[in-house]
Amino acid sequence: MSPDTPLAMLGGLTPAEFLGDFWQQKPLLIRGAFPDFECPLTPDELAGLACEEGVEARLVEEHGKTGPWQVSHGPFDERTFARLPEGDWTLLVQAVDHYVPEVAELLAAFDFLPRWRLDDIMISYAPPGGSVGPHVDQYDVFLLQGMGRRRWQLGGLVPDDAPIIAGIDLRILERFEVEAGNDWVLEPGDMLYLPPGWAHHGVSQSDDCLTLSVGFRAPSADEAITSFADYLGEQLPASLRYSDAGMAAPGDPAELDDEAVARMRRFILGTLDDPARLAQWFGRVMTQPKYADQLVANETPTDPAALVAALQEGEELVRTPGSRFAWHALGGGRATLFADGDGAECAQPLARRIASEAALDAELLAHEGAEVLLAALLDAGSLAWADEFEE
Ligand code: SIN
Ligand code: CO
Repeated sequence: MSPDTPLAMLGGLTPAEFLGDFWQQKPLLIRGAFPDFECPLTPDELAGLACEEGVEARLVEEHGKTGPWQVSHGPFDERTFARLPEGDWTLLVQAVDHYVPEVAELLAAFDFLPRWRLDDIMISYAPPGGSVGPHVDQYDVFLLQGMGRRRWQLGGLVPDDAPIIAGIDLRILERFEVEAGNDWVLEPGDMLYLPPGWAHHGVSQSDDCLTLSVGFRAPSADEAITSFADYLGEQLPASLRYSDAGMAAPGDPAELDDEAVARMRRFILGTLDDPARLAQWFGRVMTQPKYADQLVANETPTDPAALVAALQEGEELVRTPGSRFAWHALGGGRATLFADGDGAECAQPLARRIASEAALDAELLAHEGAEVLLAALLDAGSLAWADEFEE
C-alpha cells in the first residue's frame, strides 16, 4: 500500500497524511469510508457467537436487575436474550475476526498500519438507547458503523485521574461534556477514528445497530519494562553484577551515596540498552496470541519430508485465524520470523512471505530450510493444512 495514494477509507487522505496529522493525535470522522458497506455479520449471528464457549462476550445493561450499568460475561444462552428489555443494553463480542473470515478480510483495508499493532475487531450490537456509557479507552480505535445508526459524541482528551463512577464493573466517566461540533450520527459505512485518551459516548439510534471496533494496542511502560526485563533476565549470566571496582572509601559506611546510585543506573541502563535483544523481545511480545488457549499444538511432530511431499502434491497451508506474525531484518538477507510469541531465523524473503497474506504453497520450498520452519509452525498451531482447516 503506497503511503501517498489517497484512500477513500481515510476520507481521501493519504496514509502519510493520516499518520502525520491524526494517528495518535486527534479524531477523524470519515463519512462513507466504506461506500455501500454490507455488514459481514447479522445481529443474530453475533448473538450466536456470544453463546459459544471460548468466545469473549459481554452484556452491558444500563438498568440492570442488580443496579445501573450491570456487566455480565458470556457464554450466554437464548434465555439471556429473551429476558432483555427493548432498549438500553449492548452486547459486545471480542475478536470476531478470529471466527468470521469475512470480518477478518476487512483488516486488509488497515494495511497502512503495522499489523502487529492490531488487537482485534470487536463487534457490538445494541437496540435503541444501548451504549456502554461515556468512557475512555487506552487504544486507538476505528469505529465502523456496520448496520443501523449510532450517535457518537466526543468529550475531548481526559486526564488519567478523571473521576469514574464507583461500584460498577465499567470505567464510566462521572463527568462527560460534549465538545461543540463533536456530535454525529453514523450510518453504515461511516467510520470514526479515535486516538487513545479521548472521552466518547456512542448510543444506538436504531433497532439493528452493529458497530465494528478495529482496535490497535500499544504496551504500557509497565508491561514493556517488566516483560523486556524478564526476557533479558533469562539470558544474562549470574556473574554479570553491580560492580564498584576503584571506588573511594565511604565517608559513612551506612550512606548509599550518589556515586553508588549513578553506578547502578549505568549498570541497569547499559544492560537494557541492547538493540538486538530488544528486537527479539519486541517481535515475540507483539505476536503473542490474544488467546493463548486458542493455539492448538500438534501432538505428533510433522516430518519435514512429508510436508514437502504434501506441498508438492498441491496441498496448501493456511495461517490459523488469530495467529500473529511479524518479521525483523537481521542483515545479510536473513530475518527473524515471529509467530505467536516465538521467533526463528530464516531467509528474509521466506519470513516476509509467511508473515504476509500470500498463499503458502510449494513455492515456499525454494527457500532453504523452509520445510523445517513450516513443520515447526504447523506443530505450534500457527499454521494448518487448508483442507483440514475447512470445517
Ligand atoms: C460500542 O461499540 O458500543 C462501544 C465501542 C467503544 O466505545 O469503544
Ligand atoms: Co470505547
